[in-house]
Amino acid sequence: MAIKTALITGTSRPAGLGFAVARGLAAHGYHVILTARDQAAAEPLAARLRQDGHTATALRLDLSDRASMDEAAGYLAETFGHLDVLVNNASAMPDFQILDALDADMDAVRMAMEVSVIGPWALTQALLPLLKAAPAARIVNVSSLSAQQIATGLDLGAPLRSPAYSMAKYALNALTGVLARALSGTSILVNTVDPGNTATHPDRGDDAGDRAAADSARDIVQAATLGADGPTGQLFSNNRPAA
Ligand SMILES: NC(=O)c1ccc[n+]([C@@H]2O[C@H](COP(=O)([O-])OP(=O)(O)OC[C@H]3O[C@@H](n4cnc5c(N)ncnc54)[C@H](OP(=O)(O)O)[C@@H]3O)[C@@H](O)[C@H]2O)c1
Repeated sequence: MAIKTALITGTSRPAGLGFAVARGLAAHGYHVILTARDQAAAEPLAARLRQDGHTATALRLDLSDRASMDEAAGYLAETFGHLDVLVNNASAMPDFQILDALDADMDAVRMAMEVSVIGPWALTQALLPLLKAAPAARIVNVSSLSAQQIATGLDLGAPLRSPAYSMAKYALNALTGVLARALSGTSILVNTVDPGNTATHPDRGDDAGDRAAADSARDIVQAATLGADGPTGQLFSNNRPAA
């Protein structure tokens, strides 16, 4: 039987959701490919999984560098010949402190769009032959429902926070639909998961998050392992379909 493979972006931090997802998929028997802008950051995390009896590889992958995506695709083609799961987990929040869209720095907007929208889109293109070579590949975009509510103005009662991040995540949610539509008629399912407020940055104090990374990762693993009758183009929040 072919080895099941899963690539996760943005797996550079032990406390990050990417590592928790990698651990969850490894426990489901996947060979996990942990990727980071700096491969040296992902190496010790892959080593930890191997120490725990899983199979894991670290790779360099920068979502603003198409050549790094093509290199990753080349490695996967040579080593496995297919990719079963792509988790677009990486994210940039360059305007964490910005509370007003009119104060947004356009370089920050460009950067957020690059990491959350253009990068995952280009990466899907680069990996498509490998995803199509798998029996039933799954793509999961890790995003945010509250960012969408902020970006659409539906949540007018809440303070507008991180407009670049919110716009980028809203666009990522739309990308899920666009890709699901483009891939309808194939066995590939594409969905978004909002992990909820998760404790991935214990260093940030008041933004520590109220969900454990392992719990949020479970929702992502579930979307990554959906059966053939699973949905596509769906946004899941709290493990339930959201509007
Ligand atoms: N934590 C929450 O409460 C929460 C809530 C809603 C949604 N989410 C989403 O869940 C996901 C994971 O959350 P998290 O808190 O674990 O995220 P995070 O650590 O803040 O970001 C994930 C990773 O993205 C990487 N990254 C940044 N720019 C990149 C680039 N150009 N190419 C490749 N990787 C890049 C970072 O790596 P570097 O070390 O290289 O910078 C980082 O390890 C994110 O998509 C986030 O938006 C989180």
